[in-house]
Amino acid sequence: VQDPRIAKIASSIRVIPDFPKPGIMFQDITTLLLDTEAFKDTIALFVDRYKDKGISVVAGVEARGFIFGPPIALAIGAKFVPMRKPKKLPGTFLFLPLVACDFDIKLHERSQLGSWKVISEEYSLEYGTDTIEMHVGAVEPGERAIIIDDLIATGGTLAAAIRLLERVGVKIVECACVIELPELKGKEKLGETSLFVLVKSA
Ligand code: PRP
Repeated sequence: VQDPRIAKIASSIRVIPDFPKPGIMFQDITTLLLDTEAFKDTIALFVDRYKDKGISVVAGVEARGFIFGPPIALAIGAKFVPMRKPKKLPGTFLFLPLVACDFDIKLHERSQLGSWKVISEEYSLEYGTDTIEMHVGAVEPGERAIIIDDLIATGGTLAAAIRLLERVGVKIVECACVIELPELKGKEKLGETSLFVLVKSA
């Protein structure tokens, strides 16, 4: 039996056809944010799932993971770590190949936790690529994290977020989104990491 709050959350999301381009049904969560009950219930459902799970990191993906992540982090007593679009975080870049990273970060960067080292991961878009970045010093190896975003479509964004956290030795408990577009099979890109969503949309 579905939690009755889910239907209200689903109906508070405005779907806009052909935005930002023809053929896309844009899932607009700004209307969910205007519905105080739906917004509160959204956060409560995530908090209920993740409280008391030993989670110390809530990572949120820019931009809309920055809306849902912080209230969840505060409620479960975790820190919020922003995963940002390129060139927003101040820092020195670590241009290291993925295979070398774990080793290099452990030996070289761990002694500088709190410094401004930034790591980045590229992911594919329909046309071209995008990148997300995080501060190495925001987390420590062995911490337990959830990754929050508003929506999973192709899964490329969350897969990149998973790679970033795994490179710095963080255990990802789960990815959580308000909305999934199951037809795009984004879940398959997440590998072993499980996905929790509130609303599935066509
Ligand atoms: C949207 C959404 C997710 C991502 C999902 O963000 O908020 O972050 O796309 O797509 P994927 O599963 O195919 O990777 P968008 O790229 O529009 O960026 P924005 O939030 O900065 O507008």
